[in-house]
Formats: sequence, C-alpha cells, structure tokens
Amino acid sequence: MEAEFWHQRWQNNELGFQLDEAHPLLRQYLPAVIAGKHKVFVPLCGKSPDLSYLAHYLPVIGAELSAIACKDFFLEQALPFNVSQQHTFHYYQSGAIDLWQGDFFALTEQHISGCNLIYDRAALIALPLEMRQQYVQKLRKLMPKGGDILLISLEYPQHEKQGPPFSVPCSEIKTLFAGAEIILLGSEELTGKGFARRRFATSSLIETVYRITLPPV
Ligand SMILES: C[S@@+](CC[C@H](N)C(=O)[O-])C[C@H]1O[C@@H](n2cnc3c(N)ncnc32)[C@H](O)[C@@H]1O
Repeated sequence: MEAEFWHQRWQNNELGFQLDEAHPLLRQYLPAVIAGKHKVFVPLCGKSPDLSYLAHYLPVIGAELSAIACKDFFLEQALPFNVSQQHTFHYYQSGAIDLWQGDFFALTEQHISGCNLIYDRAALIALPLEMRQQYVQKLRKLMPKGGDILLISLEYPQHEKQGPPFSVPCSEIKTLFAGAEIILLGSEELTGKGFARRRFATSSLIETVYRITLPPV
C-alpha cells in the first residue's frame, strides 16, 4: 500500500478500520505486557482511541503518515496540541502523547527514544506481504535493545477477500519475528460479526493477540 493510497483514504474519510473506543483486546492484554515498560510506540497509529487509552498508563509516541489523522486525533479527543516541523516530519505534542507525522520508514531510533513496548493494531495487517517484511525489519532496527510488542493480528482465508486488512497467520508471524519469543495471548472469533466499521463475508475471521519479545541485537 503506497502513501497515496492512505492519503486518499483519509481525504475521502474512508476509515472502515476506525474504532470508536479502545480495542477490547488492548484493554484485556495490556496488563500482560506492561511490567517494566517506560514508553510505548504505536506505529501507523491513525487517529486511534487506543492512543488515549495507552496514555493513561504510559507516555505514548505514535507515527502516522496522514496530517488529517494527526490533527483529527487531537481535535476529536479535545486535547490542546502544538505542531512543529522537524526535518521531514511534523511533530504533534500534547501531554503524554507525541505523534510523528511522516513516513514510518524514515524514523530513526531517536524518534522513539525510551520506548520498550510497541503496540500494533491494524498496522502489520494493513500492509501487503513484501511491505510487512520491510515493516518488521524496520521495527527491529528502531528497537535494537529489545522490548515487547503487543500485536493484534487477523486470520481469514486470504483468497476470499483482498486486503487491506490482510490475513497474517501465526506461521507468518513466526517467520517475520524469527529469533523472538512469541506467545499467543488470546483470540476473538469474529466470523459473521463486524470488524471495526465493516463486515466481511469471509468463511472465518479471527483476531489474534500476541506478545512478542524481541531479543537485543
Ligand atoms: C489500517 S490504518 C490503522 C490505523 C490505526 N492503527 C488504527 O488502529 O486505527 C493504517 C494506518 O497506517 C498509516 N500508514 C500507512 N503507511 C504509513 C507509513 N509509511 N508511515 C506512517 N503511517 C502509515 C495510514 O495512514 C493509516 O492511518
């Protein structure tokens, strides 16, 4: 999915992935990963209400391509914010929440300094296979000292529907995160039910949640 695809989505308000409140699996499983964490990084964060939920527990750094998403996040959450230009990024700041608006692939370790937890909901599964590999490589470069990822993924028969969201089964997660400790924390049966603002006619649809502990490199 190239940048233009997502800019169009935001421009046209086509936000089928958007949650109205914090994800139930985040609420349920954050306690399983939060011990010893200083700061959380949320890649491809959109304007997710998960950012505000996380900010009750930890300082949050998000990364998002769309200026519309960043601005709307603070406006909709009624949070006063400042914006400044920092090289190729715009930096949005409000209380415990910092957002880097720009290309995730251009981030450096300094942008997410202090983060030892990553929360991924609808980021990995938003990308086609080749980009998923680049995305995970980049995450691993950004957190060279290790840390945990709380990952919410999705599984369905890929031939029944085009992504995004894409199906990313456990076998692929094990390949992508080779060398990491991967624990399936839980799953949610969504077949025939809604997925955020949409409903998919796939013969099965399961949301899965993992704790992935990255080894230091
Ligand atoms: C499916 S949405 C999910 C947003 C959010 N995680 C949520 O749960 O609502 C994927 C988001 O990734 C953003 N995105 C896509 N490619 C990006 C990139 N290269 N850098 C930063 N953000 C990107 C899109 O603009 C979009 O907001």
